Amino acid sequence: MADGAVPYADDPNIGEVIVSAEALQARIAELGAQVTTDYAGRAPLLVGVLKGAFLFMADLARQIDLPVEFDFMAVSSYGNATKSSGVVRIVKDLDLDLSGRDVLIVEDIIDSGLTLAYLRKNLLARNPNSVEVCALLVREGLQKTDTDLRYVGFEIPPDFVVGYGLDVSERYRNLPYIAAYTGAGS
Ligand code: IMP
Ligand code: MG
Repeated sequence: MADGAVPYADDPNIGEVIVSAEALQARIAELGAQVTTDYAGRAPLLVGVLKGAFLFMADLARQIDLPVEFDFMAVSSYGNATKSSGVVRIVKDLDLDLSGRDVLIVEDIIDSGLTLAYLRKNLLARNPNSVEVCALLVREGLQKTDTDLRYVGFEIPPDFVVGYGLDVSERYRNLPYIAAYTGAGS
């Protein structure tokens, strides 16, 4: 890869840019500033949902001017690979105790909202002080009132997307922007 080049530049499965790298970083700076204001005087615990949220969480955390702590969870949806069933299995649980903590769930994309609904319920049962959600992407048309998202990066159209953490069969997570995926299997 030459200087200034991006991975997958010649990949025919990568379609139009949905959110550019510049737009991502500008919005993440805004979200980080908002979190800094909202949690002033506290030390929020960022809970990243693996694997899709890893890049977003890394960039967001560096825009939060507070002593944040980190933990990670990995979940897998039963059933079909591209349609969430809402039945979720914890593949990797948190290391830290949540009692009294201000938890901020960091998610890559909210599609049906079923994964998040499960996660929120699961974490709320662990006696935290608060649980809020910061989602980089939300699919247009989702009933936000149902999902109660405190922080949202971008609303995106129905196209399946990849990049900046999001994958198809584990590929494309290192694409530095969000793009439509035009290949098979989406
Ligand atoms: P939900 O339970 O339907 O909200 O599904 C959310 C999860 O599905 C996300 O955390 C992603 O892992 C995955 N997902 C949903 N839409 C996309 C997409 O367009 N690209 C890649 N992964 C997606
Ligand atoms: Mg995924």
